Amino acid sequence: MTETETETDTETVWNMRSPQVQADQLASYDAMRARCPVAHGSDGSWTVFGHADTVAILEDPDTFSNEVSSHLAVPNGFDAPAHAAYRDVIDRYFTAERLAVFEPVCRAICADLVAGLAHDRDIEVMATLGDPVATDLQCAFMGWPLAMREPLEGWVRKNHAASRSGDRNRMAEVAEEFDSFIRAELDARRADPGKTDDPTTRLLAETVDGRALTDEEIVSIIRNWTVGELGTISAAVGIILHFLATHPEEQRRIRAGEWDLDAVTDELQRLGAPLVANRRRTTTPVTIGGQEIPAEEKIVVLWASANRDEAVFPDPDAFNPTANRPHNLVYGRGVHYCPGAGLARLELRVLLEELFAATTGIEAGTVAPVLAHFPAGGYQEVSVRLR
Ligand code: HEM
Repeated sequence: MTETETETDTETVWNMRSPQVQADQLASYDAMRARCPVAHGSDGSWTVFGHADTVAILEDPDTFSNEVSSHLAVPNGFDAPAHAAYRDVIDRYFTAERLAVFEPVCRAICADLVAGLAHDRDIEVMATLGDPVATDLQCAFMGWPLAMREPLEGWVRKNHAASRSGDRNRMAEVAEEFDSFIRAELDARRADPGKTDDPTTRLLAETVDGRALTDEEIVSIIRNWTVGELGTISAAVGIILHFLATHPEEQRRIRAGEWDLDAVTDELQRLGAPLVANRRRTTTPVTIGGQEIPAEEKIVVLWASANRDEAVFPDPDAFNPTANRPHNLVYGRGVHYCPGAGLARLELRVLLEELFAATTGIEAGTVAPVLAHFPAGGYQEVSVRLR
């Protein structure tokens, strides 16, 4: 029992947003997982900590629905069959062929940002690399002008603050602000058809079930790609650089090519959890982790805990890209598996290749890292020195 928990007659109630939990999310989730596989939150939701229970949820979308919010969220707020129809459209934007076309663009952006980083003195990774690389890559992938970068960065900051506050009205306002950027992009393309052939333009011509996508659906798709990309990629960059800087021997072996770089970035995200959680809703009474949960309850799927479960990863802090990969849930599992996984892996691999080419070593800086607070994962600040 800790200050983050209170006891009722039947169960432990815990508060994921309490300052004690947020002081070190991963340590708090590790501690909870050890003694309480499913915890009832003070907001009424049920947080699931174990890997096997998480997989059971992901593989049973009939019982654990994704329809958790009244706001339109394409595709993640839908269950079958609508979800599958949307995914048919979305998955076509992330094929190997599309990614191959994007790779040189991605490389040029990464090389440019890496070339601008100072050597032999402290640099703060999130501000100088994590946030800008995520925003620039997203603008390039979507075909948006670089003038979108500044409003997008401002929007990401506001979105983080709104999500942290848990204030639903504020979150809706921030979402509306984003939607207006995107509507302007859609209007510009309609006014000048044929000017561009990029994902944003192509979405205008998509159909589901024999009808055109509505603007609301297109905006929602783009918002989810953007949210999918910006927070997670920048958090992943912070997590990866912090690990390299604090693990010189592993860095040497990674630089020497001992492992496939995609396996490396997957494993470092397993360790550090750039995406902390997603939600589900029970459609029927269920028992999970020994806990009876009624129908119509909210479930928190906690990637940041499942991916560190000792039952599957005997030493959760050990870097073991090959052995851990088959069990790694960093991009999810089941029908909602991340459609952007291939893009994310490409971006992180290319960024590492460019960083390794431009440096002989990445060392820890003199300033202690600052951990991020839920819903963000990873770090707010990471200081390193490039050599
Ligand atoms: C390091 C980067 C990323 C991580 C760790 C990540 C992780 C995840 C995870 C765990 C899920 C499953 C959510 C669930 O089951 O509820 C997911 C879904 C999703 N991700 Fe990603 N993602 C990343 C990058 C991206 C990118 C680059 C995009 C698009 C540009 C993207 C778009 C999406 C979308 C649209 C979904 C919802 C899929 C569905 O419900 O069918 N993600 N992501």
